[in-house]
Amino acid sequence: MAGARLFVFPAFVLGLTVVSAYVEELDDKFNENRKSEPWLVEFYAPWCEYCKTFEPIWYDVGAELKSLGSPVNVGKLDTTAHSSVLSDFNIRGYPAIILVKGEKSFEYRGPRTKDGIIEFTNRVAGPVVRPLTSAQLFQHVLSRHDLFFLYIGGRSPLKGQYHKVAAEFIIYNYFFSASEEVLPQAVSLQEVPSIAVFKDGTYYLYNEKRDGNLSDWVGRERFRCYFQMDSFTLYQMGETTKLVALAIVDETNPTTESVRYKALMEKVATEYRDHYNTNFQFGYMQGNDYINGFIMGELALPSLIVMNMTIDGYYLPEQKVETMEELLQFLNSVLNGRSKLLGGNGYVRRMKRLYYRVTSAVKTGFASAPFVTCFLLSLPVGLVVMIVWGVCTAVPVDEDKADEGALLATGTRPAASQRKRTEQTSNESKKED
Ligand SMILES: *[C@@H]1O[C@H](CO)[C@@H](O)[C@H](O)[C@H]1NC(C)=O
Ligand SMILES: *[C@@H]1O[C@H](CO)[C@@H](O)[C@H](O)[C@H]1NC(C)=O
Repeated sequence: MAGARLFVFPAFVLGLTVVSAYVEELDDKFNENRKSEPWLVEFYAPWCEYCKTFEPIWYDVGAELKSLGSPVNVGKLDTTAHSSVLSDFNIRGYPAIILVKGEKSFEYRGPRTKDGIIEFTNRVAGPVVRPLTSAQLFQHVLSRHDLFFLYIGGRSPLKGQYHKVAAEFIIYNYFFSASEEVLPQAVSLQEVPSIAVFKDGTYYLYNEKRDGNLSDWVGRERFRCYFQMDSFTLYQMGETTKLVALAIVDETNPTTESVRYKALMEKVATEYRDHYNTNFQFGYMQGNDYINGFIMGELALPSLIVMNMTIDGYYLPEQKVETMEELLQFLNSVLNGRSKLLGGNGYVRRMKRLYYRVTSAVKTGFASAPFVTCFLLSLPVGLVVMIVWGVCTAVPVDEDKADEGALLATGTRPAASQRKRTEQTSNESKKED
């Protein structure tokens, strides 16, 4: 028996060290010592429960990047022990996943899954603009990516602008460049150089006069016209200047009404693109968990909703939408201000919403919730304390800060007393469970 245990124990330890072998523990000298090599770093805090849950995924990422022969080093950094790095990176919550390359750093904002992180790493670690040197290469890219941007032409000031914008959006999308000859005949350009986005089985050309600033155009065009959204994509919509029109459906148990809502949304997105594209992003969402947190209520399934993610506001149709005509009426009433804006992001409302999001995130699983971070894990008790404290002291909050930003700013200041409180509350909430 004892012999068997002795045998098992080292094997177990060995297994652990092998798995974590490709993730280096970094310290505050990291930014000085990293030289020109790219690094993918997880910034964490020891009291962060979710960081612990996330750890095996991070070790998998390290091992997989190694086995893929990626030039990217993988590390993790305890920000409570090495807080001086915080001033170099804009960390809003834990775990923060940041790829550091040269002078620049790129934060990963997608779901915390191995595949998502690896895809991001490969995209961002490579060239910001990837040249497509042959027609075959172009076809290959076309078959592999649902959406990508392409610069067509030689050197030009436009190419310089394209490069800048690509560096800004590489965390989300692919950017390529090619000469005109590489394109199939079906792609017809009015002029060279040009910039195009390939998506939805077609392509759209950038026209500076009509579309304005290139960066704004890429921001508007970087999603397909209609697709299934999750909480991460919706969160990113806060950065765009579009309203989000969604069909909220139950895909696991689709009713005829669900199917109709999805079809109506898709139809308006494609057939009325010219009319609504500048103002609306269309899509559908599975389930109402996230939306319920957003509206702080219970939205019936299926439903139609229009959201203004910059101010956390939303619109609901006054009557049941049955036809295309009624959907168009609803969208127009939002645009011309006749539909009533609900929600918003006043201070108390933000706190309440945060509470809803966190509790629903706890229910639905962390990987699928962009708002969850460690500090938030000590909820609900901690948050109730904060709400009460927040309401009582009514500290004005910087309007630019996102919900979680305000809280996480507190979370990233790991004063000992605060840490203790977090631990206490997390113990309390555990006890409650
Ligand atoms: C485009 O807009 C971005 C931010 O919206 C700004 O930083 C940039 O200078 C603008 N570019 C031009 C050419 O106006
Ligand atoms: C969201 O609401 C704000 C404030 O009312 C407004 O300025 C902004 O234009 C709205 N966003 C969209 C995409 O309409």
